[in-house]
Amino acid sequence: MRSASLAPYPALRLRRLRQADWTRRLVRENVLSPSDLIWSMVVHEGEGRVPVAAMPGVDRLSVKLAAEAAVEARRLGIPAIAIFPQIDGSRKDAVGGNAADPDGVIARAVRAMKDAAPEVGIMCDVALDPFTDHGHDGVIEDGRILNEATIERLVEQGLMQAKAGCDILAPSDMMDGRVGALRRALEAEGLADTMIMSYAAKYASAFYGPYREAIGSAKLGTGAPGNPVDKMTYQMDPANSDEAIREVALDLAEGADMVMVKPGLPYLDIVRRVAETFSAPTFAFQVSGEYAMIAAAGANGWIDRDRAMMESLMAFKRAGCAGIITYFAPEAARKLGG
Ligand code: PBG
Repeated sequence: MRSASLAPYPALRLRRLRQADWTRRLVRENVLSPSDLIWSMVVHEGEGRVPVAAMPGVDRLSVKLAAEAAVEARRLGIPAIAIFPQIDGSRKDAVGGNAADPDGVIARAVRAMKDAAPEVGIMCDVALDPFTDHGHDGVIEDGRILNEATIERLVEQGLMQAKAGCDILAPSDMMDGRVGALRRALEAEGLADTMIMSYAAKYASAFYGPYREAIGSAKLGTGAPGNPVDKMTYQMDPANSDEAIREVALDLAEGADMVMVKPGLPYLDIVRRVAETFSAPTFAFQVSGEYAMIAAAGANGWIDRDRAMMESLMAFKRAGCAGIITYFAPEAARKLGG
C-alpha cells in the first residue's frame, strides 16, 4: 500500500536517513558549538548578583563576578562576552554625560575581565541609553534625536571602551554615519585593531522589553505615554527588509568588520538575506524578550526549556549566522559539552 502510494518515486524515502542517530549525525547540515556563542551579560555597579525578574536565570553581575564569568566563558569555550551596564539613576542625565567615564562600571568590568581571561573577547555596546534619564540612544532637541551631536558622544564612549581594552565596539544606536566616525577615530588614536560589530539592521522592537528592566531604563517603545520621542524615528520599521540591505551595505562600507541583525528569531529572513548578499560575518542577537518567552514557557511546563533553547540557537546557524549573541550562552555551552 505505502510503496504504491509513493509511485512513481519508489526510491524516495527521506525517512531512511533519519532512522538512527549515527545516520542523522552523518548527514546533518549545520552544527552548533560553543564557538558560535557571544554571552550577553549585564553588569551593575554594586556587589554580588541581582536577578532580573523578567529574565529568570539571568543575573546582573558585579565587576568581580563578571571577571569570574570571563574565566567560566574561557572554560566553556565561549569566544566572547557582550556587556551591558545598569547605571544608578543618580548618574543618568539628558545627554548621557557618564557614558564615556573611564572609571565607570563598563571600563572597570572590561579591565577586570581582560585581566582574568585575556583569551576571551569583550564586546561593548556603544549607545547612550543606559546613561540617559529618558532611556533613548541619543541626545534630544525639540522632540528629535540629534544625529551628529549623538555621534560625538558615541565616539567618546567608544574610544573610552577601546582604551579600557574592549576588543569589539558594537554601536547599537542606529545613528547614520556612526560606524565611519568610530572607525576614523580608532585609526586616529592608534587603535586600528579594535573591531566593530555594528547593530546594522536593528528594528524598533517590543522584544527588548525585559532588557529595559535589566538596565533600569525608562519604559520606551512605540508611542509610550509621556515619552516625547519614538524609537521608530531611529530604529528600523519591522515591516522592512530591503532597507536592512541598505543599512548593512552602509555599515560595511564605513568599516564594520561584522554585522548584526536584531532581534533574532522573528528576523531570520533578514539574517538569511544579509548573509547571502554580503558574505560578511553575520550575527543575530537573541534579545531579552526572546529569552523571556522561552524561560517563562519553560518555567510553566508549557515547553521544554532546554530543547527550545537549543532549537532556537540551531535555527540561527541554519539561517546563516556566524554566531549568536544570547543570554543562554553559558547554559547552551554546558549542554554542548563545554
Ligand atoms: C540599546 C540596546 C538595546 C538592546 C541592546 N542595546 C535596547 C534598545 O535599543 O531599545 C536590547 C537588548 C535586549 O533586549 O536583549 N542601545
